Amino acid sequence: AQNHIKLTDQQSEVTINKHIYGHFAEHLGRCIYDGFYVGETNDSISNTAGVRNDVIEALKKLQIPNLRWPGGCFADTYHWKDGIGPKENRPSIVNNWWGGVTEDNSFGTHDFLNMCELLGTEAYLAGNVGSGEVQELADWVQYVNFSGKSPMSDLRRENGREEPWNVKFWGVGNEAWGCGGNMTAEYYSDIYRKYATFMADWDNSGGLYRIASGASSADYHWTETLMKKVPSHLMKGVALHHYAVINWNQKGSSTDYTDEQYFKTMQSAWFMNELVEKHTAIMDKYDPQGKVDLVVDEWGGWYEVDPGTNPGFLYQQNTMRDAMIAGMTLNIFNNHAKRVKMANLAQTINVLQAVILTKGKDMILTPTYHVMEMYKVHQDAILIPIELQSDNYKYGEDAIPALSASASKDKQGKVHISVVNVDPNERKKVSLDLGAVHVKKVAGRILTTNDLREHNTFEQPKTVLPKEYNEAKLQGNRLEVDIPAHSVVVLELI
Ligand code: AHR
Repeated sequence: AQNHIKLTDQQSEVTINKHIYGHFAEHLGRCIYDGFYVGETNDSISNTAGVRNDVIEALKKLQIPNLRWPGGCFADTYHWKDGIGPKENRPSIVNNWWGGVTEDNSFGTHDFLNMCELLGTEAYLAGNVGSGEVQELADWVQYVNFSGKSPMSDLRRENGREEPWNVKFWGVGNEAWGCGGNMTAEYYSDIYRKYATFMADWDNSGGLYRIASGASSADYHWTETLMKKVPSHLMKGVALHHYAVINWNQKGSSTDYTDEQYFKTMQSAWFMNELVEKHTAIMDKYDPQGKVDLVVDEWGGWYEVDPGTNPGFLYQQNTMRDAMIAGMTLNIFNNHAKRVKMANLAQTINVLQAVILTKGKDMILTPTYHVMEMYKVHQDAILIPIELQSDNYKYGEDAIPALSASASKDKQGKVHISVVNVDPNERKKVSLDLGAVHVKKVAGRILTTNDLREHNTFEQPKTVLPKEYNEAKLQGNRLEVDIPAHSVVVLELI
């Protein structure tokens, strides 16, 4: 069959919001403690206020636009006042969701928000609705954002921070249908209205971006109920969570997977396309003007590696399989950028589909890191809608498209096209019709490996690295490209 991509001449005027390239850090396993944060008194690992300098440097290169914290399920157990003030006075609590480990609260609001400043990223704070109080969340917003004199802003000043941080993104709970309180959509929508009402926009700038806890995968009733019951002035974003899994009942391995398991993971990742389209259709029905955004604030691969959730704490290796998930998913988000304005990969360090893994002093960058770095060219660029015709990648009776792609034009006028071939066996010849885009030169980068299961290790951290790609042949306004099996290619047209 002929594989064909056409850049359409449609003037989309849709910006691929940079916040689609957001991240997520939870108090889970070694994401925060022994991940981002090694403690101020640590003199064996170079750090700034306890945050690893190698991590800061690596994440700055990704230009991560926002970072969600403190959960996840942890958010609905978290009482923010436990994490402020002198560290020696902070209470130790139990992290009930993630292994019953002791949480000494040494990494709290100031530590996180100051870290965001170091990273040059915007904070996305997830508030506690499940086990918290309306006043508690209202106080947190006042503590973080109020510049005048008030009980909470005075307390912030006492704790050493004069100016507010002006955090725009606020989650009103997390997974309210599950770990956030096992609520019904109707009940949550009602209490959402109450919580959102008292989360004041202190600058009256209309800038507070409140995000409702959203559906798990295909729970369309959840999205519909929120859209029906909550007015748009109280809700800027509706969340959605979907993980690429082999099968929720089957444990996998992060490096030793069968061909069938690989296919099922790709099929689950590709399901994101249907989810985004169906949730978007519901939102279009109730909000044709597009005032409310779809925020996919948890996505990525989840393999339930033995020994499982506890005590493994969702640590998993990250191979070319994860690079496939990342490339395909980001193509889906780019192509639906009219409604999807924000997304968060779960989770940045040492948990699930991490971009960074650490061991003692060492740090490695995963294949997903490299995809994120290659795709950063799409941040805040104008979407170029494409038409795509692709071979199928089949397994037994099932099939998904082997290719996914997305294209955009940046502020300097450069066009970038990302193409992913998830087929583990076959390279694909693709004919790329550039339409009205005139090109003098083509440059490109590729991430691929000989073996689908290859990954970076602490011993060999450079096994999977992007390389130059010179396989694109320009012929008039067409490009003939050859995309190897299981690879991600980003082309730059100049
Ligand atoms: O990312 C791990 C967990 O997955 C989060 O805590 C929760 O929101 C989701 O179920």
